[in-house]
Amino acid sequence: MSAKSVGGVESPDLASHDSSGHETQYLAVFTGEVRKELDTIMARYPTRMAALLPALWIIQRERGWVSEDGMAEVAEILELTPAYVKGVVTFYTMYHQHPVGKYFIQVCTTSPCGICGAEDVVKAFLQHTKAGELGVTSPDNKYTVIEVECLGACGFATPVMINEEFLESVTPDTVPAILGRLP
Ligand code: FES
Repeated sequence: MSAKSVGGVESPDLASHDSSGHETQYLAVFTGEVRKELDTIMARYPTRMAALLPALWIIQRERGWVSEDGMAEVAEILELTPAYVKGVVTFYTMYHQHPVGKYFIQVCTTSPCGICGAEDVVKAFLQHTKAGELGVTSPDNKYTVIEVECLGACGFATPVMINEEFLESVTPDTVPAILGRLP
């Protein structure tokens, strides 16, 4: 499986998993060209451990999230313990520990954006994606909406990230058009 780039937005394929975080049929990520990519990254550093963050990022790009099996694969290649890898994954909120929708929507609701109406933007995304609740993936598996802390664009409320794409000055009225251009 591999990520697709659609309209500048990376959209990973999804994998099924059981309740313990193991994918039901795990296929190694680091094969062929993807392994070569990791080898190139590892060659830049004096230790394999130094390539941990980009290796996890590749897992997430390819699978949409970082499963227990993905962590184990990374641990083996980088000669680390699975516990060490898991500690890193759980430290950084940008790594998904569960499957998310094709489009992962992050809305800043910190105070400066909050007083400019960010909560209404969140409500509009939850309504128009049919996700309904924060952190819940929509029935069609397309969208997961979460609130996040300051995205560093406080003068352009409300900023929103959809996968790798950064949007500024989003309002409840512009949400339908934003979603409408996502395939
Ligand atoms: S508070 Fe929303 S971007 Fe800074």
